[in-house]
Amino acid sequence: MRILVTGGAGFIGSHLVRRLVVQGGHEVVNLDALKYSGNLANLKAIETDARHTFVHGDIGDQPLVERLLREHRIEGVINAAAETHVDRSILDPGAFARTDVVGTGVLLEEARRAGLQRFLQVSTDEVYGSVETGMSIESDRLAPRSPYSASKAGGDLLALSYWTTYRFPVMVTRGSNTYGPNQYPEKFVPLFVTNAIDNQPLPLYGDGRQCRDWLAVQDHCSAIEHVFLRGEPGEIYNVGGGNEWENITVAEQIVGYLGKSRDLIRLVQDRPGHDRRYAVDCSKLRRLGWNPGVPFEEGLRTTIQWYQEHEDWWRTIKSGEFRTYYEQMYGKRLKEGSKFEVRS
Ligand code: DAU
Repeated sequence: MRILVTGGAGFIGSHLVRRLVVQGGHEVVNLDALKYSGNLANLKAIETDARHTFVHGDIGDQPLVERLLREHRIEGVINAAAETHVDRSILDPGAFARTDVVGTGVLLEEARRAGLQRFLQVSTDEVYGSVETGMSIESDRLAPRSPYSASKAGGDLLALSYWTTYRFPVMVTRGSNTYGPNQYPEKFVPLFVTNAIDNQPLPLYGDGRQCRDWLAVQDHCSAIEHVFLRGEPGEIYNVGGGNEWENITVAEQIVGYLGKSRDLIRLVQDRPGHDRRYAVDCSKLRRLGWNPGVPFEEGLRTTIQWYQEHEDWWRTIKSGEFRTYYEQMYGKRLKEGSKFEVRS
């Protein structure tokens, strides 16, 4: 197929593009605005592959999107472009509404007008809000609580409205916490791994007992591809790894694997509105024939190894704009923060 993937220089997007081109043999036009977390280094493996065309631009640029769909005779769209970091959404909520809602709206409308066969919206399990017990199923009411998750919920619902209103064949995936190589080091796993390598403190929010369901990026991408090719129009599919862990446990695994001291782990002031737990029931996607394949221990270990072996990749990032962000986000927290007390 000829597919437009957006956000394909980012973390999940770049893994997805490589998979679609190399394993799937698809022709991919990759539209990415190259904002702070988009990185052409993530696409090195396919930079000379004729099946991949990179275009620098924004999903909200209507004339550009219209032209790309027409000139490349695009058959389907996977929208993986987004502002994705909860902490940044607290600092600058407007950017999230612009990309995750308005940008998604532009893409949807151009795709509908071009009469495409498929449109997959990459959404998130955060749209269900904090789930204290049980697991979210696709028909649950949405209850997003951060500017990030509220913006993603906006894009997600807008996409679904295109099926209800126009019978435009849209599908939505709601994925859980994804980890793996090439993840921008603002996120929990790469931040803790790279800080630990440098013997820097690991800032654990609140009591560190929040739960996330960890999903290897390879599994997330195989799920997106599976739904894109085999999903039912108008349907939503939860995607989770089935690896629910408290943050403190993952932090302990990271320092343990790297042979570092647990004293690096610091409890710091919590994230405002911090969701306690997300958990998704993925039986609908399993019935469609998808299963995750990467056990968490193995996935975490190979991810840590990747960061050990690719210091150039993350040191370049951490020496740029990231320093200002890090100081703003963690400077005060770490000065005030208490040292982690070993649990009995
Ligand atoms: O659930 C899917 C979502 O997972 C995606 O939609 C988001 O794009 C992605 O950012 C992620 O959201 P989280 O907020 O769960 O991910 P993050 O890596 O920021 O944090 C994971 C957990 O670790 C969360 O409970 C907050 C905590 N945390 C995070 C950071 C960055 C800390 O304790 N300290 C930190 O410095």
